[in-house]
Amino acid sequence: MKTISPENSRVYDASIIQLPRIFAQKGNITAINNEKEIPFAIKRIYYLYDVPGGESRGGHAHKELMQLIVAASGSFDIVIDDSKIKRTFTLARPDCGLFLPAGLWRELVNFSSGAICLVLASLEYSEGDYIRFYDEFSKFKKQ
Ligand code: TYD
Repeated sequence: MKTISPENSRVYDASIIQLPRIFAQKGNITAINNEKEIPFAIKRIYYLYDVPGGESRGGHAHKELMQLIVAASGSFDIVIDDSKIKRTFTLARPDCGLFLPAGLWRELVNFSSGAICLVLASLEYSEGDYIRFYDEFSKFKKQ
């Protein structure tokens, strides 16, 4: 696995990963294995749901955490920012994930009704891994 240092990660280091889909007329299955379909081992899974219309989530960066974000249901946009450039990804399919390396600011916006944002994360929850103020993030990226 290529490791990208969080201070130097760029929006171009984020990528859409096409996940496998086991197709059947009675419904589909997508399976994700540690370090196989995605470039890290999964330590935590969480999901956002019942997001009210017009609400946004995120508004922070992570110092070490890597994530794969999937729209398990519905759709939403993720705006990422490396302190120089912003990129917007629309997630709208359960077999498509956005890989986010550490050190990128993100905002999740435009949630559709009933959207479920599934997040596979490389680390357990730690408030110390968050950068919650943009000016602190800018300084972090200039190290
Ligand atoms: P946060 O990651 O800031 O939410 P979002 O980026 O989706 O807007 O988390 C919101 C709150 O939930 C915060 O107080 C921490 C808590 N939380 C946990 O306790 N464990 C977790 O795994 C996550 C993701 C959040």
